Amino acid sequence: MRFGLSLALGLTATAGAVQLPLHFPASYGSPSPSFGSSFPSGAPSFPAPEQSLAALSTQEYTTLTHDNFRGYSVRIRQTEGWCDPGVRSWTGYLDVDGGAKHLFFYFFESRHKPAEDPLLMWINGGPGCSSALGLFMELGPCRVNDIGNDTVPHAEGWNERANVFFLDQPVGVGFSYADYGEVVETTEDAAKNVAAFIWIFTETFREFNGREFHMAGESYGGRYLPVFASEIVDQNKQAVAHGLQEINLKGVMIGNGITDFFTMLLSYYDMACTGASVPPILDISQCVRMKKAIPRCTQMVQASCVDMFDEMACNSAALFCGAELEEPFFTSGMNPYDISKVCDGPIGETLCYPVTKKIGSYLNMNSTRKLLGVDDKVKTFSSCSTEVGMGFNRRSDMYAPGPYYISGLLERGISILIYVGTYDWICNWVGNMRWVEALEWQGQESYNAVPISQWFVDGEPAGITKGWKGLTYATVEGAGHMVPYDKPVQALAMVNRWLEKRSL
Ligand SMILES: *[C@@H]1O[C@H](CO)[C@@H](O)[C@H](O)[C@H]1NC(C)=O
Ligand SMILES: *[C@@H]1O[C@H](CO)[C@@H](O)[C@H](O)[C@H]1NC(C)=O
Repeated sequence: MRFGLSLALGLTATAGAVQLPLHFPASYGSPSPSFGSSFPSGAPSFPAPEQSLAALSTQEYTTLTHDNFRGYSVRIRQTEGWCDPGVRSWTGYLDVDGGAKHLFFYFFESRHKPAEDPLLMWINGGPGCSSALGLFMELGPCRVNDIGNDTVPHAEGWNERANVFFLDQPVGVGFSYADYGEVVETTEDAAKNVAAFIWIFTETFREFNGREFHMAGESYGGRYLPVFASEIVDQNKQAVAHGLQEINLKGVMIGNGITDFFTMLLSYYDMACTGASVPPILDISQCVRMKKAIPRCTQMVQASCVDMFDEMACNSAALFCGAELEEPFFTSGMNPYDISKVCDGPIGETLCYPVTKKIGSYLNMNSTRKLLGVDDKVKTFSSCSTEVGMGFNRRSDMYAPGPYYISGLLERGISILIYVGTYDWICNWVGNMRWVEALEWQGQESYNAVPISQWFVDGEPAGITKGWKGLTYATVEGAGHMVPYDKPVQALAMVNRWLEKRSL
């Protein structure tokens, strides 16, 4: 959720010139390259022990290992009588990278047909924010109560037609932790742990072998998900040769995402100075100054971040553009995630939403930690980890060309839904619409020729949409950054239509 509020100037020296291989490696053309980069190579393949989620203990963790993934294990247990008492649920840790990194997850069965419905992963952004935010304030089967000491069932949970898991990643986020202070600071590194998680989960719980799989998330998830999905598509090509099933990845849903950072920066003028969503927020004098900065910002970014990436020059471009185009908004006192409201802050404590503090109180109760099986090594839960966020900033992770991954996924038949709440400023509908229109893929011309239409829920207009083949763009009218928080009914209708491959 939170990114770029302070753009640190990274001073990491760039690596020397990349060497292009003049000769192919000796092994070129031989079968069975080592399986992906996230799995130990050379592991023999045995059939996985068949596990049934239903048989797992509610009292203690069952630890599962898999012969194909040495150095990885899953600790999982059933959680009873909480959140959504009508469905079965589990929590646990996936221990990755020799068992030193531990990724926490919550898993809920579908309310409809758990044995047939697709598998859906949800992640929040940050970088560094816990997916507990998505669970307990947005789309989970329950939400935290007003006191912050219990949960109440949530009718519009996205597990209505899907088996949903919420993953705290990378390590250092939410209840996830590392034994020796290991850190993950790039999306590409995080992708390896996430791919391992998905493979081990579906290999261990055979009921999910070959099940339709969808990845969803919001905000910085717009940076994460295109890379995570690409990692799965790329590793799928080698899976079968190693005795593993392919992950049946069908689609990626990004809500209010930061997939193209610089397009988003330029759109801050539209959001704060025009009537794009609400009447102009900033003074004319501020807006004139912003408008004048746009050509210089565009030129700096194009030269040092896009045409040829130069980390130092790109960081100074981001610093200039941030100061001119982003900072004026913070004089307004408005909620950057919902410009129809003032920030119910302070933002550092609440992210402008006091409910986030209640989620913290609930998750820090000893009884909750015991129920969920949180490891003692995890100290206090916080919604967002500053350390993780700073690590990603240091590595300039957010400047990566997200749209290139989206093109790659579309060309390989993965469907993409870009949905955007119209009141969000930070990852707004204008910036998202612009990069989607500029996206280079086989369907670009056809997509751009499709007229915009409205989509409806219960006969009421819910937003605008446009789509061609695998690519769909949609707005959710009157929602902020966290769409399912503001518009739960519309958000559920959207996800259900998407999972059923209907147009919105
Ligand atoms: C939450 O707090 C209220 C008010 O103090 C109390 O009545 C209720 O029992 C508490 N619930 C739990 C689950 O502790
Ligand atoms: C919660 O658990 C910790 C560690 O076991 C203990 O120090 C603390 O006193 C407990 N808090 C409450 C309110 O019981």
